[in-house]
Amino acid sequence: MYKGKFITIEGSEGAGKSTNIEYIQNYLQQQGIDFIATREPGGTPVAEKIRDLLLDKSNTSLCDDAELLLMFAARAQHLNELILPALEAGKWVISDRFTDASYAYQGGGRGLSWKKIEQLEHWVQGSLRPDATILLDIPVELGMERVRQRGETDRFEEQKMSFFNRIRDAYLKLAEENPQRFYIIDTQPAIEEVYQQLEQVLSKLVANV
Ligand code: TMP
Repeated sequence: MYKGKFITIEGSEGAGKSTNIEYIQNYLQQQGIDFIATREPGGTPVAEKIRDLLLDKSNTSLCDDAELLLMFAARAQHLNELILPALEAGKWVISDRFTDASYAYQGGGRGLSWKKIEQLEHWVQGSLRPDATILLDIPVELGMERVRQRGETDRFEEQKMSFFNRIRDAYLKLAEENPQRFYIIDTQPAIEEVYQQLEQVLSKLVANV
């Protein structure tokens, strides 16, 4: 539908999103691709305010439905203000998380029904879906160890291990159900090997413009 591609990057906590997104950006820059890099929740001033609310550890009473609705409120703003205009202008959009994270965290993690999420997805996005989703995958224990080494945690990172196991399972289920757009990258090996896996995926996406 659009000339530019809409690429989302997903992963559970500690999967190495920041480093790998930096690599993806450098790769696309070298290939002369016109892209914007953004993130969810967030990406615009209003959506970033919603992000602050969602990650604030002092919001202990935030209920699961409100959490899901805030994710989609931020997403609606992000789509209208940033993602759709960029795609319409022919740019690629690289988003650090998108709706798969709502299925994984609010569906898998919190146990909200997938039906509710599907309804919101349809309402907020219509038929728009990512062209490709790169899932950075790591066993939960290892990922959480990396998070702990980083220090400061947010409202999500404070959750129990079982929450993150459900998130990883949900991501892997999404990947299995949508093989045409998902690429799973194992982030356990040495970084050079992870970059090689990423380069294979990216070169395919670029060649396919
Ligand atoms: P980040 O740590 O990757 O920047 O993401 C912020 C947190 O928000 C992360 O713990 C995942 C969570 N999240 C959801 O729970 N649902 C969503 O739909 C999105 C986009 C993020």
